[in-house]
Amino acid sequence: MKNSLLDTVTLKNDFIKIYGESTYEVELFKSPARINVIGEYTDFNGGKVFPAAIDRYLYIAIRKRNDKLIHYSDLKFPEKFEFYCDQTFTYKKENSYANYLNGILTVFARKGYTLSQGFDILFCSDIPPAGGISSSSALESGFAYAVSELFGFNISRKDIALAGQQSEHEFMNVQCGIMDQFIISTAKKDTAELLDTETLDVEYVPFNLGDYKIVVMNTNKKRQLADSKYNERRSECEQAVKELNEKASLNINYLCQLTPQQYEKYCSLITQDNVMKRARHAITENDRVKKAVEALKANDLVLLGKYLDIAHASLKDDFEVTGIELDTITESARKQKGCLGSRMIGAGFGGCAIAIVHKDNIKDFMDNVQTDYLKKIGYPAMLFECNTSDGVSRL
Ligand code: GLA
Repeated sequence: MKNSLLDTVTLKNDFIKIYGESTYEVELFKSPARINVIGEYTDFNGGKVFPAAIDRYLYIAIRKRNDKLIHYSDLKFPEKFEFYCDQTFTYKKENSYANYLNGILTVFARKGYTLSQGFDILFCSDIPPAGGISSSSALESGFAYAVSELFGFNISRKDIALAGQQSEHEFMNVQCGIMDQFIISTAKKDTAELLDTETLDVEYVPFNLGDYKIVVMNTNKKRQLADSKYNERRSECEQAVKELNEKASLNINYLCQLTPQQYEKYCSLITQDNVMKRARHAITENDRVKKAVEALKANDLVLLGKYLDIAHASLKDDFEVTGIELDTITESARKQKGCLGSRMIGAGFGGCAIAIVHKDNIKDFMDNVQTDYLKKIGYPAMLFECNTSDGVSRL
């Protein structure tokens, strides 16, 4: 669905078909997907990330009710959910995506944003689910923003992002960083956001690739294991911090407080090989973010592309979060004419990768990558070009 007047009318009509007429107004919002140019697995290590929101959206129609009921439905899923606005929520497997939303309402209530009346909501998304471009954070930030606007809470975009992250931690048991919810809440079109995840300071950097475009490549690999491995990676990084503090008498809170040179000096003090490798990835990746942003600012897209390739290698060999699908697709991408670099994005283990591709080569690029991927993996990938977008907004 594109953001046209016709589509918003359609969404409103669908909403009224499901929930009927009311004296309250239906309010409409959209929440984007995201890519991450570079800076993977640095966000829970106090490092920098460089994401951008893109033009794939979750659309939200929401309307107050006269009673205390809450209803969630989604045009693409059959389940419908009913709750009360003043109930206590707990995670329940059968509540599927509603858990993310109930988690947000729980965080809101704790902060004093309580609801005295209910609401109905209808979602419709063109973001591939569990595909690595953050459909879940689009849902969290989009929902939190829509509820905040509907009830006049005026919660800041930063706090919207933090509520989404908190919901993941408490309700979904994913100890995620802040990157996804933050970029989706605060993005500005035509820029990528250099976010310092320790301080939450932001620099909006113009994201102008001239004749080049970002192509998103969804491996279509399902990722059941992602969450448990994700938390495992986080603990390994925390283990590295603990050991370095104890053995090198450091006093760091996060790995990314160290430079690659400091890492080299102290790394032999880390006992486990895998923990050492996780630390090396986080610390060198943080350094790459700074260098890649400099390359972009200097309009050196060839160098930017190289950093993407190096980042992928580090995620593959040191952080070990890629897998055959992401390795195959990025390897094929790098071989194609007009491609400057390619890497996995997000949590990995499947999901999406990106490539920087010359606009004149995009068609051949997509055909060739698809052919290589299908031949090796046995099922097709999904490739599409993207543009940057604003963060969550009212339609
Ligand atoms: C997921 C998480 C983010 C971040 C990335 C890896 O997308 O939600 O917080 O940790 O993985 O960079």
